[in-house]
Amino acid sequence: MSKKYLFTPGPTPVPERVSLAMAAPILHHRTKEFESIFAEVRQDLQWIFQTKSDALMFASSGTGAFEGAIASFFSPGDKVISINGGKFGERWTHIGKAYGLNVDEVKVEWGKAVDPAEIRKRLDADPAIKGVFVVASETSTGVANPVRELAELTRNRNTLILVDAITALGVWSIPCDEWGLDVVVTGSQKAFMLPPGLGMAAVSAKAWKSAETAKCPRYYFDYVREKKSQEKNTTAYTPAISLIIGLRESLRMMKEEGLENVFARHDRLARACRAGVKGLGLKLFADEAASSSALTTVVAPEGVDADKIRSHVNKKYGVNFADGQDHLKGKVFRIAHIGYYDRMDVLLALGALEMTLKDLGWNVKLGAGVTAAQAILSE
Ligand SMILES: Cc1ncc(COP(=O)(O)O)c(C=O)c1O
Repeated sequence: MSKKYLFTPGPTPVPERVSLAMAAPILHHRTKEFESIFAEVRQDLQWIFQTKSDALMFASSGTGAFEGAIASFFSPGDKVISINGGKFGERWTHIGKAYGLNVDEVKVEWGKAVDPAEIRKRLDADPAIKGVFVVASETSTGVANPVRELAELTRNRNTLILVDAITALGVWSIPCDEWGLDVVVTGSQKAFMLPPGLGMAAVSAKAWKSAETAKCPRYYFDYVREKKSQEKNTTAYTPAISLIIGLRESLRMMKEEGLENVFARHDRLARACRAGVKGLGLKLFADEAASSSALTTVVAPEGVDADKIRSHVNKKYGVNFADGQDHLKGKVFRIAHIGYYDRMDVLLALGALEMTLKDLGWNVKLGAGVTAAQAILSE
């Protein structure tokens, strides 16, 4: 018998309570019953986005919701800055270009956060810049970018800040209104503890104003059309009914835990995981001062293929870590702790990692990682 343990930064494990809520017989979306569920979810999304503005839901993964934001708030030829410090930053550059935007891509070394001074310089040099795209938690590297500082640069300009918070929302505090964020996008299969298929976004009044003149082609992911429907607790097209019912449950769970406790849990698990990795003598890939609490990116020991570690830990111990992307393939592996994870999960992941390294002939002291993590987890 071998159990399976998912430690990937999306999809993440789904709590039984959420699965059971989604298993109820399907209901029709044009009904009072669904409208009242939708109303509750809209309100709770405002709570987690920390906004009084609209929070929309799309039947798509996070990418669809982000693409929709680009299409809904910009026009072809608009100048935007896209901060690219990994796979996801790169994706928003590609989508911006696909819609005909004039994208100034700011490349950041993988593993490092963007320096807001660099963005300030560009914004000062060109007042026509209409948008800044930034990834709050770059999941390909494990880096957290300084979203708050970047928003300070855009809030008093004619510039929107679009934030990919797909692995940041529900992990640490991203108060959309207080920080002056314009579009903040997330997805169901991350901190929301749901299967993939639901994109969510909070939108500021400043962004809605831009939508009035935005000319990019759009249809399904038209934020304005969705807003009109969702304000009436319905959707323009068939919503992901079961996922929205699951989302009601996962938001209820987060509310029971309390927002600050949700953030504190993620922070503690992340610190414990990093301590455990270092306790084993391994290196962290992301700059530790800018590390995302959603995941830990681990550099494989010299001479060991990271994918060999992943494949062994999976086959022998049933533990699934995520791989490295692009030039990090075979060099790093990623351990998730975003969503439905607690202390014992981190110990399990580290325990399996220790045994794997030993199996692969690396000189590891069994228990060294777990002990270092325990010191933090028993705080
Ligand atoms: C930071 C980040 N942005 C974007 C995406 C893409 O989201 P999706 O796969 O939901 O389209 C992901 C998915 O892993 C992500 O982690």
